[in-house]
Amino acid sequence: MSFIVAIDGPAGSGKGTVTELVCKKLNLINISTGAAYRSVALATLQNNISSDDTNKIIELLDKIDIEFRKENDKDLVYLNGEEVTKRIRQKDVTSIVSKVSSIKEVRLKLNKIFKKIAENKNVIMEGRDIGTCVFPKADVKIYLDASIEERAKRRVKQNEELGINIPYEEIKKDIQKRDEADKNKKIGALKKADDAIYIDSSNMTIEEVTDKIVEIIKNKMT
Ligand code: DC
Repeated sequence: MSFIVAIDGPAGSGKGTVTELVCKKLNLINISTGAAYRSVALATLQNNISSDDTNKIIELLDKIDIEFRKENDKDLVYLNGEEVTKRIRQKDVTSIVSKVSSIKEVRLKLNKIFKKIAENKNVIMEGRDIGTCVFPKADVKIYLDASIEERAKRRVKQNEELGINIPYEEIKKDIQKRDEADKNKKIGALKKADDAIYIDSSNMTIEEVTDKIVEIIKNKMT
């Protein structure tokens, strides 16, 4: 048996941070599906493949191994045995990830991986299409949102903590562009599932959002 929580929402909505905290409180496994898409984008760059070259990216999929590992209480991402958790947050990866993630074959491969990881486990999977496409029958579905200004502010802070310095205006523009691309994807588009609980976190602290989601999950688990 597995218990699946799907958290979807746009870039910078706080999904990643909140998911990490909720997982710790409830002892659930944390799967960031965006990190997997970012890893495919990184592999594309590492192999000098243009993000427009769909066929080459599809060929590359057979040579990609993505792993989520927990080490010293930290969630780490490995691409072909190399730890890439920080690397996949860099600008070059971010700027092509929407394009790479709009390729049908990429989504099919990653969705298979996500389903396998969740087998017989209790997980929170966060992304864009988890409640709509990957786990339409998830036990709990949340759609986490926030205003564009708030999301850009949060991303700047998060980057700073990782030692990455990108100015606010640049981040805001990039998020707007990604929102547009994410919402207009032919498959796996960012969309609130009809039965997802909508949370606007613009004026909420991380702790408030975390507590709210913990309460929703606890109610469903008992
Ligand atoms: O959550 P994130 O910013 O790390 O996600 C990176 C990109 O991956 C995002 O621009 C869209 C894509 N993505 C997706 O298409 N489907 C998902 N389930 C998760 C992310």
